[in-house]
Amino acid sequence: MEKWSLMTITVLLGLTVRWTVSLGSYSGAGKPPTYGDYEAQRHWQEVTYNLPIRQWYFNTSDNNLQYWGLDYPPLTAYHSFLCAYIAKLINPDWIALHTSRGYESQPHKLFMRTTVFVADLLIYIPAVILYCFSLKETSTKKKVSSALCILLYPGLILIDHGHFQYPCSAVK
Ligand SMILES: *[C@@H]1O[C@H](CO)[C@@H](O)[C@H](O)[C@H]1NC(C)=O
Repeated sequence: MEKWSLMTITVLLGLTVRWTVSLGSYSGAGKPPTYGDYEAQRHWQEVTYNLPIRQWYFNTSDNNLQYWGLDYPPLTAYHSFLCAYIAKLINPDWIALHTSRGYESQPHKLFMRTTVFVADLLIYIPAVILYCFSLKETSTKKKVSSALCILLYPGLILIDHGHFQYPCSAVK
């Protein structure tokens, strides 16, 4: 039981730090013409939602690859597609083909930050917990402190929740 309560505190701490960092600005905010990775990710939602799959990776009149062309593998593209579906339900302007370019607003930032947070919560954090619990011949204290070090590693938190990226994009 102690093992789980310590791990829960670790995860809550990791989540709090993530959300606190995400309240800050992201790289490229308000900087036309290309903005930053935030816009790249938003643009991929626009492209994957509005164009047929066979056009995602090709330069067409609707898909200028010189402007944040989709250059990550298909798993990322499907993730963008999924986020785009949710974005469309909240505000179709966020992913409107062509006209959404460079879209920025407080509600949109909240949406984008939440998608990163949820991806961390559903994929990265469970993976870290499983990894730490599967460490052999290690005390609970060591397992929990390993999880604490991994989940509070500043590099990933700053890149994903500050600069703006999706968790484990380095792995992808
Ligand atoms: C790609 O398409 C855009 C229009 O969407 C066009 O302006 C650009 O010249 C094209 N680039 C190449 C390399 O064909």
